[in-house]
Amino acid sequence: MQTLLKKVQDIFASEQFLHEPKELYEPIDYTLRLGGKRIRPMLLLAANQMFNGDMEQVRHAAVGIETFHNFTLLHDDLMDKSPIRRGQPTVYRKWDENTAILSGDTMFALAWRYFLVQPHARLQEILNCFNETAILVCEGQQYDMNFERREDITIPEYMMMIRLKTAVLLAGALKIGALYANAPEQDIDHIYEFGIHLGLAFQLQDDLLDSFGNVAEFGKQTGQDIRDNKKTYLFLSALQSAPADLRRELFDLFASTPQNSDAKVERVLQIYRQLDIRHQVEEAIAKEFRDAVQHLDSINTEETLKKPLRELTTTLFGRKK
Ligand code: IPE
Ligand code: IPE
Ligand code: MG
Ligand code: MG
Ligand code: MG
Repeated sequence: MQTLLKKVQDIFASEQFLHEPKELYEPIDYTLRLGGKRIRPMLLLAANQMFNGDMEQVRHAAVGIETFHNFTLLHDDLMDKSPIRRGQPTVYRKWDENTAILSGDTMFALAWRYFLVQPHARLQEILNCFNETAILVCEGQQYDMNFERREDITIPEYMMMIRLKTAVLLAGALKIGALYANAPEQDIDHIYEFGIHLGLAFQLQDDLLDSFGNVAEFGKQTGQDIRDNKKTYLFLSALQSAPADLRRELFDLFASTPQNSDAKVERVLQIYRQLDIRHQVEEAIAKEFRDAVQHLDSINTEETLKKPLRELTTTLFGRKK
């Protein structure tokens, strides 16, 4: 797994993101150089290796998938009004909103360019997977925004939303890696489902860390979901567990508009603690990890080839950032 991360880092180190006009490309370089965990390109490479693919054939696709992910972050931070990411100011804060929009749009097109570098017999299928994934992510992002204003969100609706905004990209990265390696059809289905459950767990963890994470490790402002009235798994579990008076208070707190209410964040966190919401979310996370591993187990290939994905799964299970 460390080898995979090193490989991804080497690939990025050899890429040039700075061009003219610098106002367009500097934010792109800033974002892509800040790194992050590089989960998606690691998944793409790992899936490719698991089916005996050729690493050199997927290096551009790995950059492409990460460039697409980073594009979604530029726009997501604007939509969520998030001040920091990876411990640094977000692009729309460091530059401005127009910059986040246009540099983000460019990154989406750059992602396509990366995918188009390398010819492959199944390129049409690969690009189709990439593009359909991108559309689903946008659908998920729209549900996420719609849910800020709705009071009647159910847990199944929330799971559907995070499947779209987050899980399909992890699943898509894995599937693309497997397609490049010409993996058997049923194994591609399993690796996709592995990615879906991994992605669901990943977003549940992200929601948990947004409330209870350590800012220095997490690299993002905590309490942001509460400020934004996001109907996360934490909020929905709290509604289910809360007695009537607390339920009403939660609804009132999440109907408010002020962006920077520290008092609101404090009170909501207090309620989450009182109801032991953390424990409930941890159980949901563990369940998704178990489901993910079942799909990995079902893949018909040598155990030694599964090792990097098993390690990645274990590392993600305990993630703090
Ligand atoms: C952030 O993704 C967006 C979510 C889907 C939660 P990551 O947590 O993978 O962000 P980086 O790339 O490591 O910074
Ligand atoms: C991430 O959701 C989904 C996408 C970026 C597509 P979040 O809004 O929870 O991600 P963070 O917490 O800002 O990274
Ligand atoms: Mg966000
Ligand atoms: Mg968001
Ligand atoms: Mg989040």
